[in-house]
Amino acid sequence: MPIPAFRRITLAAAAVAVATALVATSSAVAAPGSPGSPRYSPGAEGAGDPYFPLAGNGGIDVVHYDLDLDYTPPAPAPAPLEGTLNGVATIDLVATADVDRFNLDLRGLTASKVVVGGKSMAFEQTANELVITPRPKLKTGQSATVVVTYGGTTTRPTDIEDALYGWVTTRDGAMVVSEPDGSATWFPVNDHPTDKSTYSYEITVPEGLTAVANGLLVGSQTADGRTTWTWDAPDPMAAYLATATVGRFELRQYTAANGTPIIDAIDVTRTAGQVGSLARTSDMLVFFEDRFGPYPFVSYGAIVDNDSVGYALETQTRSFFSTSAAENTVAHELAHQWMGDHVSPERWADIWLNEGWATYASWMWREHRGTSSTATLFTGVMNRSATSSTWSTVLADPGPLGIFGTAVYDRGAALLHALRGELGDADFFALATEWVARYGGGTATTADFIALSEEVSGQDLTEFFRVWAYEPTKPTVW
Ligand code: ARG
Ligand code: ZN
Repeated sequence: MPIPAFRRITLAAAAVAVATALVATSSAVAAPGSPGSPRYSPGAEGAGDPYFPLAGNGGIDVVHYDLDLDYTPPAPAPAPLEGTLNGVATIDLVATADVDRFNLDLRGLTASKVVVGGKSMAFEQTANELVITPRPKLKTGQSATVVVTYGGTTTRPTDIEDALYGWVTTRDGAMVVSEPDGSATWFPVNDHPTDKSTYSYEITVPEGLTAVANGLLVGSQTADGRTTWTWDAPDPMAAYLATATVGRFELRQYTAANGTPIIDAIDVTRTAGQVGSLARTSDMLVFFEDRFGPYPFVSYGAIVDNDSVGYALETQTRSFFSTSAAENTVAHELAHQWMGDHVSPERWADIWLNEGWATYASWMWREHRGTSSTATLFTGVMNRSATSSTWSTVLADPGPLGIFGTAVYDRGAALLHALRGELGDADFFALATEWVARYGGGTATTADFIALSEEVSGQDLTEFFRVWAYEPTKPTVW
């Protein structure tokens, strides 16, 4: 952890030489002039992502979230679509700086108690931030367990594009899908993909409802008309991929051809036509393992609810589908488990690495099924007018309102198809598997992807990526 520049310039002149020496020997956590003793400051209110400045926080890294949730959905119509959520979040974290204060993201719910290291602590809340003042202060590298008791009324939150996300209250439960920064609507969180964590859940709902989370089902227990569903998600996960969806679900469990345990949660009102494509999941797992390497998580499955947020989401190990699961979307969300979930964007500007890969994966699946071809789908994108937002958007910097735009999906997929043409199949699929092997479990940038493409192929791809990823114009030569 280097000493930030702003600290060094505040030093008295006599101490500067000492500070420089400390940097040179990289014992940088110690305060100059007082070697070995920490210098405390507040953790930043954001993780430093320019698109979502308040998402995530500085000075902490969360290792594990244990979410103990108690939820009651709305009363029948015409009662308002509002539920009641009460939670106790037990958060194991490590300080990444010497902090006398740090934040978690929490929006629309009220914290009533914060305990750090077994003792009640002072805290404040602003619109998006829970500000905690730990005493004793936390030194860099120090672990702490933070227990936040919180709760409130749940509604139907929306993102900056007015799309539903977060804890979206439904008549019979909730759809919980949080990309990019919606997790703060249901638990206190370091809400940025650069902080991956393991999760466990105990979710208590009225008897007859099912709560579905990530990972593996540990069990369920009913007492006094309420059922507690326990889930364990041991694969490190970005917060936006966590779910605790509640509804009238039937759980369907089986083992896929590659050995992955599958748990699908199907709303009891769904017809065979709405969920029939899920039967392809097993074949798709085999198909994508061939191209991206071993499936990276303990389980998989789909949630298909009877209400809609207007899109599907690749919630880790348990993709969410609004009302029905179309085959191409089933392929898209499954491919995200490697591309987006296991390898996640370092900054939201890098999201084409998620959506371009997932879209290209569904092109490959369609080719495999004989319903289209990657060449035809590529031509379809290239035939779009030069004035289309597919081309007027800088792929590697689409802006916060462009992260789910057509460029991110379709120009991203077209880039990958063009890159495959440049590299040939052997190098292209070596790139895909090495990408997952090298960056799986963490995050990566567009620059990382370019560097790996050049490393695997031995080609100089500067011009290729300039026209495809960094210019707001339609590529014609590359
Ligand atoms: N990542 C999702 C997909 O697979 C889309 C999420 C859209 N989210 C939103 N808030 N609009 O394509
Ligand atoms: Zn996607």
